[in-house]
Amino acid sequence: MRTDDPTEAGAREGFDPKALRRTLGQFATGVTVVTAAKPDGEIVGMTANSFASVSLEPPLVLWSIVREAKSLPVFLEATHFAINVLAKDQLDHSNRFARPGQDKFVDVDWTPGLGSAPVLSGAAAVFECARHAEHDGGDHIIMVGRVDRFARFDRDVLVFAQGRYGVTAEHPLADRQPGIAGSGDGPHPYDDFLIPLLHRAYSSLYDAFFAELGEEGISGPDMRVLAYLSIRPGSSAELVSRGTYLGSQITSEALETLRGQDLVAGDPDTALHLTETGTARLKRLIQYAERFELERLGDVDAVELATIKRLLRRLTENDGPEFG
Ligand SMILES: Cc1cc2nc3c(=O)[nH]c(=O)nc-3n(C[C@H](O)[C@H](O)[C@H](O)COP(=O)(O)O)c2cc1C
Repeated sequence: MRTDDPTEAGAREGFDPKALRRTLGQFATGVTVVTAAKPDGEIVGMTANSFASVSLEPPLVLWSIVREAKSLPVFLEATHFAINVLAKDQLDHSNRFARPGQDKFVDVDWTPGLGSAPVLSGAAAVFECARHAEHDGGDHIIMVGRVDRFARFDRDVLVFAQGRYGVTAEHPLADRQPGIAGSGDGPHPYDDFLIPLLHRAYSSLYDAFFAELGEEGISGPDMRVLAYLSIRPGSSAELVSRGTYLGSQITSEALETLRGQDLVAGDPDTALHLTETGTARLKRLIQYAERFELERLGDVDAVELATIKRLLRRLTENDGPEFG
């Protein structure tokens, strides 16, 4: 039974090729650069996501090449081709080898593999194939290769889906146990809510940061007020209190300390600003913070970190002041 209304659809006659392409894009793939060499030494490479495994015994793979590709004659003359499965940091390779043209290999690190087909350094996997068969594939030719040598590297892969590049991330629900409260299976469900998780992560990072400041030592509220006034000079104490979420009592205590240390000046009722000493102090603190993030979060995958920062920014989007 059909329960879904499609966003777009087509049928055999007169369908929109762009709609078909977009619909095909719902199938996520990796990205490869397929390479080959002619006996005279000419080398070619092109980005292809039509790669698929075919058979294990014998070991066969396929990809399809558009008949108009400039590199087609070389692929049809070469004895071998190499499928280089791109790693997630090889997006530049994907773009470069998708442009028709001559000098795709300039500044690219590669070595000649079987049949002299270029093997690109830094790939996530390489399948070196002897040409096995070609089949008609409409405006493409289906190239089937027999895998004569392969190598897998411990690298994350580049992904292509819905017309965009992506990276893989473990599905957050993939290892979730259907737990019963307090049964002891997996994390306690009450522990799995965003707010307690945020709170715990925040507390442990916050405590570690301020403990490591040493002689640069400053309290959390004092630092937040300094940071806020550097972005919003000329704010009143009330604005600072709202912008930092510290509340009026803690804000006025912080301001008293900072004014006493000549880090902040001005009138709390109308306009406060950092002094020169305050600006220099904040600069040093920011350097500490950058170093702290590098050391503490250096092991966290850069993509995961960027994802969580983006999510947190989104969660605070409708939250009034642009500082928190
Ligand atoms: C992600 C991605 C996947 C692609 N997959 C294929 C493919 O499977 N087959 C193909 O013929 N072209 C594919 N292309 C387009 C070719 O890379 C492009 O036409 C390239 O210019 C061909 O190079 P050439 O004309 O120098 O031979 C893809 C492009 C991108 C960006």
